Amino acid sequence: MNAFELYNPTKLVFGADKVSRLGELVEPYGKRVLLVYGGGSIKKSGLYDDVISQLNEIKAIVHELSGIEPNPRLTTVNKGIEICRAEKIEFVLAVGGGSVLDAAKAIAAGALYDGDVWDFTIRQAVIQEALPIGTVLTLAATGSEMNGNAVISNWETKEKRGLGSKHVYPQFSILDPKLTYSVPRNQTVNGIVDIMSHVFEQYFSLTTDIPLQERFAESILLTVIENGEKALEDGTDYDARANLLLAGTYALNGTLPNGVTTDWATHGIEHEVSAIYDIAHGAGLAIIFPNWMKYVYKERVGKFARYAERVWGIDPAGKSEDELAIAGIEATRAYFTRIGAPATLGELDIDGQHLDRMADEATRFGPIGTFKQLNKDDVVNILTASL
Ligand code: NZQ
Ligand code: ZN
Repeated sequence: MNAFELYNPTKLVFGADKVSRLGELVEPYGKRVLLVYGGGSIKKSGLYDDVISQLNEIKAIVHELSGIEPNPRLTTVNKGIEICRAEKIEFVLAVGGGSVLDAAKAIAAGALYDGDVWDFTIRQAVIQEALPIGTVLTLAATGSEMNGNAVISNWETKEKRGLGSKHVYPQFSILDPKLTYSVPRNQTVNGIVDIMSHVFEQYFSLTTDIPLQERFAESILLTVIENGEKALEDGTDYDARANLLLAGTYALNGTLPNGVTTDWATHGIEHEVSAIYDIAHGAGLAIIFPNWMKYVYKERVGKFARYAERVWGIDPAGKSEDELAIAGIEATRAYFTRIGAPATLGELDIDGQHLDRMADEATRFGPIGTFKQLNKDDVVNILTASL
């Protein structure tokens, strides 16, 4: 097991109707609040009214930034930064999915930085401070509610980049499974794939003798596979939505990578696809991940054989390790297809035109991944298999 440090300061407030706690959670941070939200789902569901009434109770002075895009854009983040500076905002409250949370993090860091917030994503500057952030999450997917990462897109240059810092962990996140009842089917599917992919990135590792981390990962995968299908059958199944929501948080809140060398190549590749084509992150992952698996599994066949057995319940009798590994990868693809995720870039009208550029960008700092280090040609091969 590798040496590691674990830090996670986010207070998780989980359960039905917990938005009723919002006022008292925000109050210690000041009265001047920037409320950040997306394209309107929170108005339709009534959540917006509940949030405003909580903020009114503590006599908060509320400014709003709405219209955060899925794949949040730098231009929108900059609008938020301007409001924070002009209105002397003390607290940033994100209400929505991962995109809204990520935008709020970038705004909170950018507001206290003299330069361009994009600097943080291109390693030109390190986040030294940020306004405090709180979140009310409405979609199980990214884990942004309990981590210090954000991903934003520069639409002019077609770049999608991440930033990360201990300063942008939410102070608190409210997770009410009922708030995810209204998530449309396709976004529920994207969330399921994203959560599973976060586990894959940390599970398919060359680090050995880590039974606890492996079983944590397998338990999250099994929970998502089972409850994902239940939530798709009945979007108002409280327990299914709750299990999915908690799994999403645990998949990317720093629990799985402890002592483990993680991979993250597939996320790097997917971000290049969504940077150019603005596709949903989960849809891109559903297409690319099984192809990554096929491309790399021989590096440690035993791990993939274990995955097939433990996660998909495939009987090893009469199968070579190789056959078992392949059966597990095929079961992954079959599950994604069964829940309605795309399997090829072609289904999203993406052709081979920009493969070279995407591979170049994905490897701009050198080879990516650790399970198998991928250079530009490897990335082209995986993307080609994904067409
Ligand atoms: O904008 P609104 O109207 O709110 O609608 C959203 C949006 O259209 C809708 N939605 C969210 N909650 C809803 C709902 N509709 C009805 N009822 C609800 N309760 O869903 C759509 C997608 O929302 P979005 O926030 O974009 O989805 P997601 O949570 O999957 O976030 C995706 C973004 O997160 C980044 C991705 O790259 C992508 O930009 N990621 C962030 C990570 C992190 N911070 O740690 C890690 C991930 O790997 C990922 O890269
Ligand atoms: Zn992801």
